Order: sequence, then structure tokens, then C-alpha cells
Amino acid sequence: MDEKAHLNALQEQVETALRACFQGREPRGDIYDAMEYSLLAGGKRVRPVLTLEVCRMCGGDPALAMPFACAVEMIHTYSLIHDDLPCMDDDDLRRGKPTNHKIYGEATAVLAGDGLLTAAFEIALREDSPLPPQRVVAAAACLARAAGAHGMVGGQVLDMAAEGRAVSRYDVEQLQRLKTGALLSAAAEMGCIVAGGTREEQEAVRLYAEKLGMAFQIRDDMLDLEGNEATLGKPIGSDQANEKTTFVSLLGMDGCRALVKKLTDEAVCALSRFGAERSSFLCWLAEALAGREQ
Ligand code: IPE
Ligand code: IPE
Ligand code: MG
Ligand code: MG
Ligand code: MG
Repeated sequence: MDEKAHLNALQEQVETALRACFQGREPRGDIYDAMEYSLLAGGKRVRPVLTLEVCRMCGGDPALAMPFACAVEMIHTYSLIHDDLPCMDDDDLRRGKPTNHKIYGEATAVLAGDGLLTAAFEIALREDSPLPPQRVVAAAACLARAAGAHGMVGGQVLDMAAEGRAVSRYDVEQLQRLKTGALLSAAAEMGCIVAGGTREEQEAVRLYAEKLGMAFQIRDDMLDLEGNEATLGKPIGSDQANEKTTFVSLLGMDGCRALVKKLTDEAVCALSRFGAERSSFLCWLAEALAGREQ
């Protein structure tokens, strides 16, 4: 399989599905423009790709997972809009464009985030879903748990509270697990739920995503220091400016590189029960994300 070509095809499918989400909606001020401004600005679409490919690996039809793939990308995009606000990381560039509040103002940016969060559950809970209702409910509940105060929102709270303070490695692990890992895990687990995977399969998928999620955020912290702003599409040096304790400040670049490699190996290992053929794309994806420049 040409994994890169497959990834591009998946990203294209996700773009098409996301573009269709708000088509035909009656305009309501500039709220839909603001929501689509960030949602359709690009982005790697890692979370929806995880949902679709885990569904395939667990024997399901990825097309049935697409509403959940779109839902998790909407929640992720909302988290980025709010993360960039002046009251949080105060950043001006996102996905290669001025941040949402720079274009629409802070009030609309807050509401665009709220609109995307709500739309995510609207699309996940569509009444005409051909899936068994128990799977729809289980997947939506999984997403809600990961997005809220026990997941991403909770992680963002810890992240803000840790600014300008010396923080232990345990604390940084905990906040990264929540702010980034939770949503990535939900993305993957929803794919397994849609496919009707077993409890053991769901456990394996969760372990894979937890390891990948931690590696993903460590790589994000590394790129904040050594990345290229044009390639990355967001500012460099934001963490230092906000006095964040990250894995880079705790372990240094070499320590981070070694840890990303270890976590990626563990992520790949977690999928062994699915066999080399079925898990090959997700193993490749974990490796590709470990060395990403974007
Ligand atoms: C950025 O996420 C924020 C983190 C949780 C590290 P991504 O790196 O997935 O951002 P996009 O979606 O590609 O813009
Ligand atoms: C944010 O982490 C994770 C979210 C929940 C949005 P960062 O603040 O490091 O993300 P970037 O670097 O701005 O994308
Ligand atoms: Mg942040
Ligand atoms: Mg940020
Ligand atoms: Mg960052």
C-alpha cells in the first residue's frame, strides 16, 4: 500500500464531508462563516483519519464512521479557536491564516467555538443513522467524556494553571494526556465502537491512541521551538512566551526525541493483536507523526 497516497485520499474525503456539513444553512449573522473559516482552513485531519482507519481495522465500514470523524474534527477545531484567544495562548496565526478572533473579533470567535462544539453532537446523533442506536450513543458518549472537564477542557485548565510555575514531569504528563490525548483516544475509540469491536479491541485501540497522543503533543512542543512557522502554519515560540513547562523544558530536545520514539514503538506494539496487514496503515501513521514537521 502507498500509505502517503492513502492518507491524502482520506484527508480529501474528510474535507468533502466537512464542506457539506453546513451547506444550505440559512445565514445567521457571520457565525457560519466564522465556523467554516477555521474548520475549512486545512489542518492535518489526524483525528478523523484515526476514526475512519480504526473502523476499517476493526472490520467496519469507514463510511459509517464519517459523521463521528467530522464531529471530532469540529471539537478539535473549536478547541484551537479558543486556545488561540487572548485570554489563553494569545496567538495570531493558525492553519496558515490569521486566527479566528483576528478576523471575526473575540465574541464571535467564542461563539464559533460554541457553534462547532454543538454541531459536533448534532452530526454524531443524526436520527437517520443506519447504525444500531446503542453504537451511536456509545460513540457520542465517548466523545463527550473526552471533550469535557474530565478530558480536553480539563487539560486546558491544568495547562493554564501551570503557566509561569515549575511543574513536575508527572503534572505535565497528566495535563498533556488530557488536553491532547483524550480527544485523540476518543477519535480512535469511536472507530472501534462504530465497527462493533470487542472490549479487548477497544482497549488495544485506546492504548495505541494514548501512546500516539503523548508522542503527538511532545512533537508539538518540539516544533514550537525548532519548527518552521510557514510549514507549521502557527507561531513558533508561543510556549516560551507564555512560560509553559513542556516536555522540551523538562527533558531537552534529545530527551524528547528518544521519548517520542519509545512511545511510537509502544503505540505500534499495542496493535499487534490485529495482525500486520490490518494494522499496517495505523502503524505507518504513528511513525509518520513522530517525525512530522507540520
Ligand atoms: C494542534 O493539533 C494542537 C494539539 C493538540 C497539539 P494539530 O497538530 O492536530 O493541528 P491541526 O488540526 O493539524 O491544525
Ligand atoms: C493545545 O495545545 C491543545 C488544545 C486542546 C487546543 P497547544 O496550545 O500546545 O496547541 P498549539 O500549539 O497552540 O496548536
Ligand atoms: Mg494551549
Ligand atoms: Mg496554543
Ligand atoms: Mg503547542
